[in-house]
Amino acid sequence: MTTTPVLRTERLTIRDWSTDDAEAALGIYGAQEVARWLTPEMRVVTDVEAMRSVLAAWVEAQPNLVPPAGRWAVVRESDGALIGGLSLRLLPPFEEDFELNWQLDPRAWGHGYATEAGRALVGWAFEQGVEELFAVARPKNARAIATARRLGMEWVGETEKYYNTRLQVFRIRPSQRGA
Ligand SMILES: CC(C)(COP(=O)(O)OP(=O)(O)OC[C@H]1O[C@@H](n2cnc3c(N)ncnc32)[C@H](O)[C@@H]1OP(=O)(O)O)[C@@H](O)C(=O)NCCC(=O)NCCS
Repeated sequence: MTTTPVLRTERLTIRDWSTDDAEAALGIYGAQEVARWLTPEMRVVTDVEAMRSVLAAWVEAQPNLVPPAGRWAVVRESDGALIGGLSLRLLPPFEEDFELNWQLDPRAWGHGYATEAGRALVGWAFEQGVEELFAVARPKNARAIATARRLGMEWVGETEKYYNTRLQVFRIRPSQRGA
């Protein structure tokens, strides 16, 4: 299966997922440090076969998502390692606002990769005509909150309206993009 590079940054490539990514993807989504912050349906991904099924569903859904929604893999150029995932999806309940999500293999935390990949995806989404993007994080998810702030997102409040759990909400608009 071929994958199309979507975006390149200084150290990373952001591209479509493939079912061949299952093993590396399990290092991300199967890691306890990541899974604890994920939605309940992703927390059950504990083996390669389950991960492959999830990836197959993502690959199939990708062309039918409302642009610029999508899910992408993040690859580190220096060694070709698949280190993370990024997604843009519509936020409930009105499905008007897009939410940026990012996950990294814990072995790749602490190098600014989520910030670098997120910044590129935010820039790309704005080029598609999106006027604002949101990120939501549980109040104790300090790393996610720090990454949102590093991306230049501003805190807009706390809500339970999205996923029936208390979340901090961040937003970025084109004028707020950093260098
Ligand atoms: C959220 C998550 C992706 C953040 O990963 P991360 O590596 O901390 O994020 P960043 O890319 O912003 O990296 C920042 C860290 O890299 C360091 N860093 C090194 N080089 C850097 C660079 N060039 N640019 C920016 N930061 C850099 C920063 O100092 C910071 O270090 P610190 O954590 O020791 O303070 C990761 O913790 C994760 O996968 N969490 C679980 C899933 C999750 O909660 N996702 C969010 C849902 S909203």
